[in-house]
Amino acid sequence: MAPEASLAATTAIRDDDLRSAWELDVSSVMPFIQDLASNFESQKNSLNEQPILKLTDSQHASLMGEYARPGAAHSVDHVLKEARDIFDYRIRMNHPRFYSFIPAAVSPYSWIGETVSSAFNSFAGSRLQSSGPSCIEQGLIQWMASKAGLPSTAGGLTVSGGSMANFTAMVLARDKHLPRDQRLNGVAYISDQTHSSVAKGLRILGFDATQIQIIPTDDRFRMKVRELDDQIQRDRNAGRYPFAVIASAGTTNTGSVDPLHEIVEICGREKLWVHVDGAYGASVLLSKERPNLLAGLGGVDSISWDAHKWLFQTYACGILLVRDKQHLIDSFATEAEYIRDAEEVDDVPNFWNLGLELTRPARAMKLWFTLRILGVDMFGRAIDHGINMAEYAEKQVRLQPDWQITSPASLAAVTFRYAPPGKSEKELDALNVAISQKVIADNIAGILTTKLRGRIVLRICSLNPLTDETMMKKVIDDLDKIARKLLPEIRVVNGLNLH
Ligand SMILES: Cc1ncc(COP(=O)(O)O)c(C=O)c1O
Repeated sequence: MAPEASLAATTAIRDDDLRSAWELDVSSVMPFIQDLASNFESQKNSLNEQPILKLTDSQHASLMGEYARPGAAHSVDHVLKEARDIFDYRIRMNHPRFYSFIPAAVSPYSWIGETVSSAFNSFAGSRLQSSGPSCIEQGLIQWMASKAGLPSTAGGLTVSGGSMANFTAMVLARDKHLPRDQRLNGVAYISDQTHSSVAKGLRILGFDATQIQIIPTDDRFRMKVRELDDQIQRDRNAGRYPFAVIASAGTTNTGSVDPLHEIVEICGREKLWVHVDGAYGASVLLSKERPNLLAGLGGVDSISWDAHKWLFQTYACGILLVRDKQHLIDSFATEAEYIRDAEEVDDVPNFWNLGLELTRPARAMKLWFTLRILGVDMFGRAIDHGINMAEYAEKQVRLQPDWQITSPASLAAVTFRYAPPGKSEKELDALNVAISQKVIADNIAGILTTKLRGRIVLRICSLNPLTDETMMKKVIDDLDKIARKLLPEIRVVNGLNLH
């Protein structure tokens, strides 16, 4: 080819605007990053002043609908300002007075770790594409498995969160313990407090509601093991095929831990898979003050453990640990021509062979980053702090007349209810809903309701290391003041709340 022709071809496909669009305009981004970072720096003070819950009204919703429509190019400044506006409307899940769901008390180092990880954007499906991050993921999995007391055969992987970890475990339980010709006959056992993601996973796998036995719980909301054992026998006698028991190590409602030793014993005898949903609670394995809260965990087949819950990570960072890593390979390994060059050569697996995802981010890197900077002991202290704060909240509630503890502090959760005499159960339900709405509207605390044994109760999950005793005492005192003020206004007529 003549030199002119080759030059023409190069010029024709070179687009300098396009090239510069792929470069970072550092000067326009830095002030924003600095601002975000200083937000974290002073989060104890600045977050305190911020609204815990901010919802869009219809005007904002339509404005943001406009933002969402792709169109012309805008300056970085302009779009960053829009991003700020958009994210302003949210629950600040990391607010020191946000105690609902499972709060996300994210470490700023997780945010940085996530940013670092996303900057390198490694493909963590195979060791070939991400051998450094894969070593870290494998190392962390082994460390977490040993903390849980699993043997050296253990393995696992990071997934998006507890739902995906539970789902993956259900696949293993089915494949290992339920013969193909018994699938319509298989039965799995959960408790009346098991997280909804477990039944959802089972449903997606093709099990209908009659194949999920719900075992009642005791007065501390722990699975009744005698009833479990009896139900398994009844099902066997009816010609059904029990294959898995799902226990909880930290239920979402009350932080209850099912009797793990007994469940492991039953499952060993009955040859059932035992999965523990520790999405929220497994982190107490790092507690310094109470190392034995999950005694018996080492005997189970699989464990869900979310780092975006109580290991202070940004979303989405869940972990599934499995007693024998071979089960993951048996259920998930695939072969395809286009991945043939990415063979496994040593102890670091191709994680795409252990779970559903092929393309996956290096999720373990932010956890590694945070652990490396803060050290394991600091995590343990933070977890102990959360447990102690729940106990403190319980103590403060007990000091107030007319309040009932409906489940005592367990892990970092406590539930309670304003229950003055002379009100019907329906009125008490309405009263507690109104209390929750008012504390949120007044920005006192993010305390939502849940239902226990059919009754509406208030719930505090206190795992934020920035929550302190003064703050918690004031929240409980304010709750009481609000409750007393609302009391005369609550009247339920024919099921209608006339508050
Ligand atoms: C005990 C438990 N399991 C599973 C989940 C689901 O986890 P994710 O939201 O990460 O899917 C949750 C969420 O709160 C949970 O508390």
